[in-house]
Amino acid sequence: MKGIILSGGYGERLRPLTFSQQKQLIPVANKPVLFYAIEDVIKAGIKDIGVVVGPNREQVEETIGRRKWNASIEFIQQGEPKGLAHAVMVSQDFVGDNPFVMYLGDNILKEGISQHVAEFQQSGCDASILLCHVTNPTMFGVAELGENGEIVRLVEKPKVPPSDLALVGIYMFRPSIFKAVHSIKPSWRNELEITDSIQWLVENGYKVKSAIVSGWWKDTGKPEDILEANRLVLDEIESRNEGKVDEKASIRGRVSIGKGSEVEGKCMVKGPAIIGERCLIKDSYIGPYTSIGDGCRIIGTEIEDSVVMEGASLQNVGRIVDSLIGRGVNAKATSVLPNGHRLILGDYSQVEL
Ligand code: DAU
Repeated sequence: MKGIILSGGYGERLRPLTFSQQKQLIPVANKPVLFYAIEDVIKAGIKDIGVVVGPNREQVEETIGRRKWNASIEFIQQGEPKGLAHAVMVSQDFVGDNPFVMYLGDNILKEGISQHVAEFQQSGCDASILLCHVTNPTMFGVAELGENGEIVRLVEKPKVPPSDLALVGIYMFRPSIFKAVHSIKPSWRNELEITDSIQWLVENGYKVKSAIVSGWWKDTGKPEDILEANRLVLDEIESRNEGKVDEKASIRGRVSIGKGSEVEGKCMVKGPAIIGERCLIKDSYIGPYTSIGDGCRIIGTEIEDSVVMEGASLQNVGRIVDSLIGRGVNAKATSVLPNGHRLILGDYSQVEL
């Protein structure tokens, strides 16, 4: 079995972060979202992985190349993101006659996919989809199931959802899907939808099965989803201290501190939280559900329920909550006149003062 992981698209709902960073590389608990997908696919025993890339191909290749993976990973150029079914089309040469799993690189699934992949391999079905009960089905592909759990209909982002069962962005297919993706027409959002392709399989008598996932699932498409995924992952983090903690500092709960990091002066770090490598945390409060990336400086600041990315610096900026701070951001209090907030914000930045 092969795996394709989607790491293309523009990630418009995550601007301005995605102006400089491919959406699937945004960190959750200090690890790119994409890595959770790659790890799940490898854990399921798949050794041949194709990563579908588009706009920021070099960035994705470079980030994946930083780690050694127990699988062969190649890159498949999609170019323009014309839809998930289009991503399947461009993967046809890579997949060949093999069954495969397609994993959207911005999805995280607590339970992993090993059991689903094993069941699919034994089933002989043409496709297998995963479903999850959600409170906002209009944001997803939605499934209508019959009395015996059979799939009646799949519809992409319906205005009036037939159920609360969203399609998780993890699909298992046999090569019959290639016939389907070439048979459908672009949707109202001008994309070739994978949902329509699976609906085509159902309508044309192919066997499609579904399973409802038991643990949590998160699609990290919007800022609040990244923060929620960060909370869910940090909920399971283990304590670890590879840095230096001053005796005046207090560490409570499960906190992971990376190599070369220092927690200095009157600090309080309340877990679950993660502090990366080479950070300086001084006279600050780091509250629950906070991830601080490598090389950050947090001085005289209170922060909680937030994601701070690599190399950012926050100095004496008061209290920050529910925030995403991009790489290399520099925020500090100043006494220079005239008084007032001095802002240099990228296009589409969001500030709540
Ligand atoms: O997350 C689950 C949902 O994913 C499903 O419930 C929907 O049925 C499915 O259509 C999809 O909806 P989204 O609107 O969230 O898809 P999005 O455009 O965000 O793309 C999903 C991922 O695939 C994202 O990581 C970007 C990547 N992508 C997207 C497109 C359209 C590509 O690599 N190439 C593409 O052409």
